[in-house]
Amino acid sequence: MKRLAWPQSVKLSSESIVLLGDLVRHAAERFEAVGIESALADAELLAGHILGLSRGAVQAQIMLDTSISDVQAEQLSNLYGRRLAREPLQHITGVAYFRQLELAVGRGVFVPRPETELIAQLAIDSTRLAIRDGNPNPIAVDLGTGSGAIALAMATENPAARIYAVEKSADAFPFTKSNFETYADRCDATLVQGDLADAFQDLNALVSVVASNPPYIPLAMIPRDEEVRLHDPALALYGGEDGMSVIHLVSATAKRLLVEGGALVIEHADSQSEQVSQLLLADGWREVRAHKDLTDRYRAVTAIK
Ligand SMILES: C[S@@+](CC[C@H](N)C(=O)[O-])C[C@H]1O[C@@H](n2cnc3c(N)ncnc32)[C@H](O)[C@@H]1O
Repeated sequence: MKRLAWPQSVKLSSESIVLLGDLVRHAAERFEAVGIESALADAELLAGHILGLSRGAVQAQIMLDTSISDVQAEQLSNLYGRRLAREPLQHITGVAYFRQLELAVGRGVFVPRPETELIAQLAIDSTRLAIRDGNPNPIAVDLGTGSGAIALAMATENPAARIYAVEKSADAFPFTKSNFETYADRCDATLVQGDLADAFQDLNALVSVVASNPPYIPLAMIPRDEEVRLHDPALALYGGEDGMSVIHLVSATAKRLLVEGGALVIEHADSQSEQVSQLLLADGWREVRAHKDLTDRYRAVTAIK
């Protein structure tokens, strides 16, 4: 990886006193200059990662004009160089936060996004409905689980439910497995490695809820964000020529798995609501509904078998 020289003003010498605030502010300015949106937050969070502090505690130390050791300043400068080269913050810290979960992530696994918390909420609500309708331990499935974000949110927020998840990628799977192990004592969640198209044959017509955030970007639509383009795995991003190939598989697999009246929740790009709705209607789903995220964009479709 390209190492970026850190400017003279914060370069370390044996006599240097490095103020945490100077280093953080300088990094934030450089992040902003290359187009990193959450520049100051990232600079503070990386400082917190090195110093073992929360972001709030870092801000407090900056206000107190705290200096840091040469070794800490050197370590922090290295992380700032990696972020400046557009490595995702979560790959550098090794952690992604999703609802109440702390998930291990890194190269090879998709970093869960805040907007996917909506998909998890829709799936959790559907699982609660199944309990209310008389099934005390409903089965819910996450197709293409990545870090395990949706599956483990469903499992930990609905401990009565039995959750199953499948992930195909051999690069992602060690992260998935580690996250399932972390939460194993708090929920009932089963993980398998394989293709979602033929997963869980023994659960056919037994499942109450299927959730999926599948790859849905059309092959020719290369993402602008360098963090996505260079660091998210292709298997997690691209859904064939028109972006719909894995969504087709999700629809067919969910049809096979769900009980009559079972619910399907699918995330998609903000331009795909109509296309996904039409696909599901053509596949015979009923009560097909589009859902907006907190920024008022259509990002999910639900349907009933
Ligand atoms: C957009 S990522 C979503 C990951 C996770 N569900 C989340 O929301 O953060 C899509 C995931 O589906 C996996 N995947 C893609 N095709 C698959 C297939 N045919 N079978 C199983 N998993 C698949 C990818 O490896 C990736 O982990």
